[in-house]
Amino acid sequence: MARNRWLKERLPRLPFARRAVRRFMPGETARDALEAAEQFRPAGIGVLFTQLGENLADLGAAEAVTAHYHGLLDEIQARALDGEISVKLTQLGLDLDADATFANASSLAEHAARMGGVFWIDMEGSAYTEPTLAMYERLKAEHANVGICLQAYLRRTPADLHRLLPLEPAIRLVKGAYDEPVSIAFRSRVEVNAAYQSLAVSMLPPAAARKLRLGLGTHDVALIERIAEFARSAGQPITSFEVQMLYGIRSGEQLRLARDGYRVRALISYGDAWYAWYLRRLAERPANVAFALRQLFG
Ligand code: FDA
Repeated sequence: MARNRWLKERLPRLPFARRAVRRFMPGETARDALEAAEQFRPAGIGVLFTQLGENLADLGAAEAVTAHYHGLLDEIQARALDGEISVKLTQLGLDLDADATFANASSLAEHAARMGGVFWIDMEGSAYTEPTLAMYERLKAEHANVGICLQAYLRRTPADLHRLLPLEPAIRLVKGAYDEPVSIAFRSRVEVNAAYQSLAVSMLPPAAARKLRLGLGTHDVALIERIAEFARSAGQPITSFEVQMLYGIRSGEQLRLARDGYRVRALISYGDAWYAWYLRRLAERPANVAFALRQLFG
């Protein structure tokens, strides 16, 4: 469904779909996202912002997205929010022109650096893994403050991590949200969780040595607590990594983890291009489909 053009054009216009998506995003405008971010402040929870959109078809649109993010960074600074941005490279033109994408990303990384923050790059489907890593290496050569997402379900990820570690990267480790074939990805929950844990544990020592900024991008609290136990038993504080979760998912746990001394950051998505993204959220948890259907039937 995420790839179906006919549905993509029609479904987002239906009121029930707009109601259902509100569970995962505070609204379609940057102002909605910024206001939602303010609510995390008292709990000491930082935020990441993503304007939804991917696979843009012309470079003018990619430049408009870049300009939008520059404006958002100014707003983050004006409001003194602990906020960073996380962007898909295909939203900055990766399908069209690598040099233009580099220029767009580079200007955003520079802006984020002036504010003392990291510019994060999302990881998209497997067709983009190599181009995204290559672009990351190119950006990292010029900007210290660039972060990248790695997906534990890909069989290649341990090698990719090995390749990136000498760069002293910022890495957000996620399980992976795309429908990938078994030839390149683990498909069973048990295998994905084991891969996640092993990758995360291997990143603890460089995180402790401040040679890596580590973000655990998962709502799997049991897994986070197992990784924290590894850290504690090595005498490492749990503040040597960060927990990153999506807005609207396990909100109570986000608050509890922050109260328990974890560093927590919530990723707030906004914008009108939410169709494919929303379907990935539904696919992660069948109960969400029931929730969406309840919106349909009132
Ligand atoms: P898992 O799916 O095992 O869920 C653990 C528990 O969390 C579930 O039992 C449920 O309680 C809750 N939960 C998880 N997903 C839920 C949902 N949709 N609705 C309600 N409850 C849910 N992926 C990617 O490929 N590229 C990327 O760049 C990113 N970026 C990213 C950033 C951040 C901050 C996060 C948290 C996640 C991503 N992801 C991502 C998505 C990621 O790959 C993965 O699909 C989701 O996080 C779901 O997997 P979990 O790790 O939460 O575990």
